[in-house]
Amino acid sequence: MPATVERPNPPRLRPGRAVAVLLVVVALFLALELPAYLGFDPPASRVPARPDLPLHYPLLVAHILFGSVALVTACLQIWPWLRRTHPAVHRWSGRAYLFGGVFPGGLAVLAVAPVSSTGPVSSVGNTALAVLWLVTGVAGYRAARAHRYGDHRRWMLRSVALTFSIVANRIWLVAYFLLFSPFLGDDPAALAVAAAGASVWSSWVVNLLVVEWWVLRPPGRRRHRAV
Ligand code: HEM
Repeated sequence: MPATVERPNPPRLRPGRAVAVLLVVVALFLALELPAYLGFDPPASRVPARPDLPLHYPLLVAHILFGSVALVTACLQIWPWLRRTHPAVHRWSGRAYLFGGVFPGGLAVLAVAPVSSTGPVSSVGNTALAVLWLVTGVAGYRAARAHRYGDHRRWMLRSVALTFSIVANRIWLVAYFLLFSPFLGDDPAALAVAAAGASVWSSWVVNLLVVEWWVLRPPGRRRHRAV
């Protein structure tokens, strides 16, 4: 009969430290990205203004501000210590995450994503991301209201993976620029469109696959292995 052997857990990054690292990453990201949009000055926008679509710029800025709320509160939501010891804070910051971040940010960007400045591949990828951001948020909220906490946890992890796609996007973008430059280096516009399109898709698909593996892995793999 196979024996179950408890093996010492490999050294792990403590959840509190992982959350602290994420908060530092979010702070750096926002410090770099937000200033261009806080002046509400269309010429300062890195996404080209669309004079033909008067709502484009206000909705883009709304999306970025609500997205910032989602990024900061997401870090609090995944912090196990806060959930365990301050459930009321978890509930309130969860409401802020969804109603002050994901839902208004996702709805605002639904009008921006289809006219992405970097072409149809980015448009389709960003629109799919926006829809999934809203769907996973609604599913997570409904599961919490119905006290289905296992489902709630899984849906919210998916939602947070999508929220963090914007941070992953910056890394993928640099990687694709480097990868594609030998082929498209003499056409900067084509290089930007190709790198942006590939990075939009990679940023959320890879995040979602990692979280899907995490939430679906068999419970036995989590603490010990059977030999
Ligand atoms: C997860 C769902 C999200 C979707 C579908 C989405 C989609 C978009 C789209 C379509 C654009 C305009 C791109 C263009 O026209 O070229 C954009 C820009 C931007 N988004 Fe998001 N986004 C999401 C999440 C976030 C979050 C959570 C933040 C956090 C602050 C954020 C920050 C930004 C910023 C700063 C820009 C301007 C880009 C730049 O200045 O280079 N987004 N996003």
